[in-house]
This record gives sequence, structure tokens and C-alpha cells, in this order.
Amino acid sequence: MFLGLDLGTSGLRAVLVDESGQVVGAADTHYDVSHPHSGWSEQDPANWIAACESAVAQLRQDHRTAFEAVRAIGLSGHMHGATLIDKRDHVLRPCILWNDTRAAAEAASLDALPACRALSGNIVFPGFTAPKLRWVEQHEPEVFAQTARVLLPKDYLRLWLIGEAVSDCSDSAGTSWLDVGTRRWSDTLLEAGHMRAEQMPRLVEGSETSGQLRESLKTAWGLSGPVEVAGGGGDNAAAAVGAGCVAEGDGFVSLGTSGVLLTARAGYRPDPESAVHTFCHALPNTWYQMGVMLAATDCLNWLARVVGSTPADLANAVEGPLTGPSETRFLPYLSGERTPHNDSRARGAFTGLGIASETADLTRAVMEGVAFGLRDNLDALRSTGAKPTRLLALGGGAQSRFWLDTLATVLGLPIDMPAQGELGAALGAARLAMATQHDTHPSDILHKPQIAETIEPRQDLLEAYTEGHAAFAALYPRLKAEL
Ligand code: XUL
Repeated sequence: MFLGLDLGTSGLRAVLVDESGQVVGAADTHYDVSHPHSGWSEQDPANWIAACESAVAQLRQDHRTAFEAVRAIGLSGHMHGATLIDKRDHVLRPCILWNDTRAAAEAASLDALPACRALSGNIVFPGFTAPKLRWVEQHEPEVFAQTARVLLPKDYLRLWLIGEAVSDCSDSAGTSWLDVGTRRWSDTLLEAGHMRAEQMPRLVEGSETSGQLRESLKTAWGLSGPVEVAGGGGDNAAAAVGAGCVAEGDGFVSLGTSGVLLTARAGYRPDPESAVHTFCHALPNTWYQMGVMLAATDCLNWLARVVGSTPADLANAVEGPLTGPSETRFLPYLSGERTPHNDSRARGAFTGLGIASETADLTRAVMEGVAFGLRDNLDALRSTGAKPTRLLALGGGAQSRFWLDTLATVLGLPIDMPAQGELGAALGAARLAMATQHDTHPSDILHKPQIAETIEPRQDLLEAYTEGHAAFAALYPRLKAEL
């Protein structure tokens, strides 16, 4: 049995997976994000530990025999967060999360150093880890002075699990301190970030063992025999492993809080100018590239809030078949944007509203706006040489058939809808745990999911949506000029 733990932004999901890769049990626990100031986004790491204990307690209660057979644990988590700990491993301040934009000025100044893009393979985005530490240095110097280590969120959970500071290459690639091509901490990048090598955790690959579960936890959880903890991965790498996207060209599009369009790459082909992210995959000698939109289903959540509805009710009120792009357009930059604009100050907009516009028109425009933003991401990915020919649909927004129909035609690619079942980062984490126990190459156990249905692009509407996308793309520069 294998245990996968995914430390998500809004909660922790734990899954129990058997030797054949089947999920036999799952548990979810929730915690909050606090926003003490505009643009700030923080979490108390103590809540992650409490969430893990409660998820394990649920699994032990519901699946005692299966749980007692756990031989390895895999970890996944939201990326880029800065968890600062002192030399006694005490947390010095709340973790600053991936969607926190307070360090925009520090990010811009690091990004202006040519070595940063050259070695990290990426733009230094405000949400990445290095600029956060420069912000702490400036604004909380006493905390900075006491920082013995900086850990990514799932690696703080690992510290509690195994008693050692270890990270994996996929998650560490989002710090701007890693040389993403050689998969090693870069002295040059650490120096640029005013950090020291001893503040970094030891590195392993996602499918390697990072250490053993502590004896006291084994006793408390009723486990016997060695229990290994795999390196695991950042949530996107782990989701790719869960979805079987590990070979060149395999890809997924995820309609989650943020929107992600990802393809696995056999080689390292960074192209920071495109604002595409190029990160180590959770398997050795493999990378992945992705475009990231900061708000995807979050745009629908926002609309639901302002019209006093729920995202599900809004989505259910728009149905196909597609008839062509709406006259109302929506720019989905409610939280700023990463790919392709790298603009934390960008904001959203509706255009083309009329006296007859109804809530359903706004919903359709929001879904189209997100789809057009993902088209921008696809174009950016293609400029790196990635050639996805089909995409697997993931994330909560993928439950809307209309949204997927729109996406397939806007992207001009077939979209595979997985058959029901667990997919995603927690499953990926469990699979990485499984990989530590197998002698074969990890890719041998990372199968692709069964596909329930493939949505083909509507050929008769391709041109109309291409024109719709061009009109959408023309709006951002005008919006930017207003800010
Ligand atoms: C990736 C990113 C998000 C977070 C949260 O660069 O910031 O996908 O990992 O899920």
C-alpha cells in the first residue's frame, strides 16, 4: 500500500493506493488562506501538520487494514511558498504563498540580472520563492537574520515526517535558486538572492527515497517495518505523474483555481521570454513546460460571488452546442497574470455588455475568456518547440461540458475527458511512493488514465473562435495602457 499526500492551497488530500495502482481510500481536510493585506496570501504551517494528522486519522478509521500495510509515502504540494525556520526548526512567520504578489519589485530586480533567467530557465515571477526572501530581508530583517532554512510547503511537512530537510528537483525548480538544467542549487542564484547553500535542503529526485518515516509517527499510526518517504513533487509535476504525462508531448489542461497548460519534455528547452515555466519533472532527466494563468475557475468563483450564485449553478445554466464566440468578452486577469503577460498589476474587464446582457452571458464570456487565455498559453508553449497534439482535461472546471467544448475549439486540439476516478496530484504523489519500491524505470508504472470521451474541435467554428481570440488578445495592451 502507498500513501499520497497532496498539500493543496485550500486543503490536504490523502489517498491510499494499492500495488496495482488502484485507489482504495481517500480523505480530505481543509484549512484557510489569510490575506492580511491586499496582494498578500499566507498560511500557518501548523495547520498543514494538523490537516495531515486528521487525514491520516480518517484513513485509519475507514481503512485500518489497508493503512497498516503502507510501505511508502509520497508528497505533493502547492509550489513556491516560503516557509522560514530557525536553527531549532521553529517556524519564524506564516508561509508566504505562490499567489502572494507583495514581492513584485524584488522579483523585477532579480529578473533584471541576466544570470537569473539564464540559470533558472524562467522569469523570476513575483510568486516565486527568491523574491519573497528579498522582501523579508528588507521588511522583516530580524526574521531574515534568524532564517536557518527555507522550505517549500510540502518539504516542511516532510521535515515533520522524517526529521530532515529535503526537497525534490521539481518543486525546487520554482524557487529561482535552482539551476534547472543541471538540477542543482546554483551558488550564483543563491548569492543573487542573498541566500547561502546551507539554508537549502538536500535534493533528491521525485521518485527517489528522501528518508524514513520517524519511529514515533510509525508507532502512532500503527505502521511497522520501514516506511520510506519519496521525494515527491510540486503539485503540477505530481499531477502530471498522476495523469501519466511523463513522455515528450504528453500534456494536460487544468481548469483549477489557476489554469495550467502543461507538456512533458524529454530535454531542457527553456524560453523565459515566452513567460512559459520550464521546471524539472518529478522523474530523473525529464522536464516539463507549462503556461500558468493565475485565475481560471477563480474567475467563475468571483462571478458567482458577485451575482449571489454558486459556480456550479452558473456553469449548469450555460449549455451547448457551441454557436460561436460571444459578443461580450472577459479578460481573466483578476489576480494579475503570469503567462503570457508577466504582469502582476493586470486586472480583469468585461467589454461588449448590452442592456439585454444576462448572467448566463457573463458566465459564457468568463468561460471563453479563460479559454482564450489558455490559447495564449498554448501559443507560448509552442514557441518553445513543444508540440502537444491532444490534452487531458483536469480540474474542477472540467466538469462543465460547455467549458470543455469551448476549450477544444479555441485551442484547436482534441481534449480527452478521463473516465471517472482519482487523478491529480495526490495520486501522483502515491505513484512516486510506489516508484521508490520498484526496480524498473518509474515511467513503467505511470500509466495513462482511461478516456471516457474525446471532445474534437468544431471545424466549422475554428475560424470564428480564432477571430474571437485575436479580438481578445487585442484588448490586453489597451487595458494595460489604462493602468
Ligand atoms: C505553479 C503555481 C501553482 C501552484 C499552486 O507555478 O504557482 O500552480 O503550484 O497550485
